[in-house]
Amino acid sequence: MTTLLVDGQLLTVRPVRAEDTAALITMHRGLSEQTVYQRFLAGRPELAHEQADRFTHVDGTHRVALVAEDPDGHLVAVVRYDRQPPDYLEAEVAIVVTDRFQHHGLGTELVRMLIARAGAAGVETFLADVLTTNAAMHRTFADAGLKAWTSSYGAGVSHLVMPLRPADVRRPA
Ligand SMILES: CC(C)(COP(=O)(O)OP(=O)(O)OC[C@H]1O[C@@H](n2cnc3c(N)ncnc32)[C@H](O)[C@@H]1OP(=O)(O)O)[C@@H](O)C(=O)NCCC(=O)NCCS
Repeated sequence: MTTLLVDGQLLTVRPVRAEDTAALITMHRGLSEQTVYQRFLAGRPELAHEQADRFTHVDGTHRVALVAEDPDGHLVAVVRYDRQPPDYLEAEVAIVVTDRFQHHGLGTELVRMLIARAGAAGVETFLADVLTTNAAMHRTFADAGLKAWTSSYGAGVSHLVMPLRPADVRRPA
């Protein structure tokens, strides 16, 4: 558990818990349409209970998620990775920071924390599908120290390949 001072608010960063499902649904309801679209690459005004449940039930090994919580117990950000079979060396990464807390360095800090956990757990590469126009996400990954190789696919979506230790990982052909 870590505490962070973000825009004058003391936030607690901790692993997600199974009992966070309702808080995650509430957090999602408060997101702007743009933030939801950037996170899910689709409109999604409500987070279905089953999906929220899946997000909050992690195993801490292949699926890891950290949440940032305000002093009242409201979730204000989530960052996660899901390792990919067959060898689990690559992990899909995703993050959302609630609109109120964007632009204060929280996203960069959370990605850095996730990198530390992933690196220690043997993950070699982060993967992410990000709108090509999502400058904030591209900069956040860069600020956290990641260098991305991009292979675009689909309309306006970049598939980012980000080695955690660039020297150890060969660039894909
Ligand atoms: C992308 C996101 C996680 C960034 O989190 P954040 O806490 O706002 O980011 P930070 O404050 O750490 O800023 C990181 C960098 O992005 C830049 N940035 C932040 N918001 C920006 C915006 N709207 N436009 C352009 N740059 C932006 C910051 O200036 C900073 O760059 P700098 O160091 O050059 O100044 C957040 O905006 C978010 O949740 N967006 C919606 C969800 C999403 O896009 N998810 C990506 C798909 S997984």
